[in-house]
Amino acid sequence: MKSAHWNRLREDFPVTKKYSYLANAAISPIPTQVQNAVSEFYKDSMTDGGTHWHKWIGCIEEARRMYAAFIGARVDEIAFTHSTSEGMNIIAHLLAHRGHTISNDLEFPSSNLPWINRGADLTIVSSRNGMVPIASIRNAIGRKTRTIITSHVQYSTGFKQDLETLSKICAEKNLYLVVNATQSIGALNFDVAKFGVDFTVANGHKWLLSSFGIGTLYIKSKLLDKDLGLNPPFFSQFGQANKEHFDNMKIRMSKNASKFELSTPHFPNIIALKAAVAYISKINILRIEERIRYLTQYLINKLADLKIQILSPLTDIHRSAIVVFKSRSPEHLVEYLRKRRIIVSARGGGIRVSPHFYNDEDDIDKLILAIKTYHP
Ligand SMILES: Cc1ncc(COP(=O)(O)O)c(C=O)c1O
Repeated sequence: MKSAHWNRLREDFPVTKKYSYLANAAISPIPTQVQNAVSEFYKDSMTDGGTHWHKWIGCIEEARRMYAAFIGARVDEIAFTHSTSEGMNIIAHLLAHRGHTISNDLEFPSSNLPWINRGADLTIVSSRNGMVPIASIRNAIGRKTRTIITSHVQYSTGFKQDLETLSKICAEKNLYLVVNATQSIGALNFDVAKFGVDFTVANGHKWLLSSFGIGTLYIKSKLLDKDLGLNPPFFSQFGQANKEHFDNMKIRMSKNASKFELSTPHFPNIIALKAAVAYISKINILRIEERIRYLTQYLINKLADLKIQILSPLTDIHRSAIVVFKSRSPEHLVEYLRKRRIIVSARGGGIRVSPHFYNDEDDIDKLILAIKTYHP
C-alpha cells in the first residue's frame, strides 16, 4: 500500500500529534473509531440505563464472531476474559495436573506463574541468544509430557516462535500446544488452524488497540466438553436458561468456551475490542504485518548505520513487531527519550521499540536523532 494510505490511517491516532509513540508492545493508544464506539456505549448507559441490554448482548456475540473469524477459529471456541493472565489461569486449571508441562525462561510471568502456582510438573527450557530453540523443547519431551507452553512472540526479545513446526511435533506426540499470543495478535497474522494451536490467550491493550480489561481465550472445540469448567458461572447459565428465573441450585454448563465467562460482561471493553477488530480487519492484517515489517527494517537499517547492537533475532522466520537494541542504561535512555516525546520501553537488557502500522519513518528518524544526541 502507498504511504498516502498509511498517512490517512495515522490520522485515526491522535497520539501521533503529541508523541513518536513506539511502545505498542507495552500499551497501544486507541484509534478514534474505538473511542467513538465506547463513548456511544456510555452515552446510552447514561441516558437510558440498562434498556439497551439486548443490543449490548448482541454486540458481544457479534464481537465473538468477528474475533473468531479474525484468528481463524470457530465462534464457540472463543471466551472473553479480562486479561491474558486470566485466560492462562483457566488453561492451567484445566491442564496443570494432566501430566508434565514444558515452558521456557523467556516467558512473561502470565505464561508460567499460573502453572507454578498449581504445582504443575513443569520443565523450563533455557533460551539461547534471546531465542527458544525447538530442538531444546523437543529434547525436554518425555513419556509424561502433555503440554507445551510458548509465547508466539517473546515480549523481551521479539523472538517469534515457529508455531507451525512446533505444532507438528505436538501433533506427533499428542501434546497440547498453549500459546500466549499477546505480542502478536493485531500485529502479525495469527491463525489458530494454520498454526495448529490448541489454546491461545491474548489481551486487548497492546497490538489489538482496544484498551484495558479485555482478554481473549481460544480453546479448540474438540477439547471443550472434557472439563466442567472453572467455577460454576453466573453468566453463561443465564445466557442459556430461563431468563425469568435464575436457577441457583442446578449447574447448567454450556459446551462452548463462553462457559468460562463468569459474570455480567464488561460491555464497554468488549465493545472496544469489537470496534478495534473491525478496524484492523478492514485494513487487513496481512497488510499490517507487511507495514510493520517495513518499519522495523527501516529501524534496523538505521541502528546498523550507528553500529548499535540489535538483540532481537534477525532471521526472517523469527522476526516480529518488536526490535530490542542494546543500551548500557536502558531506563535512563527511556526517560531521556520520553522528555523528547519519544515513547519506548526498557526490556531485555536494552530498548524495546515496537512500531504499529500508524507509525511512520519520521517517528523512527526522531528516535535515531535523539539516540545520536544521547551522551550519558
Ligand atoms: C507476553 C505477555 N503476556 C501477558 C502480558 C500481560 O497480560 P495481562 O496483564 O493481560 O495479564 C504481557 C504484558 O506485558 C505480555 O507481554
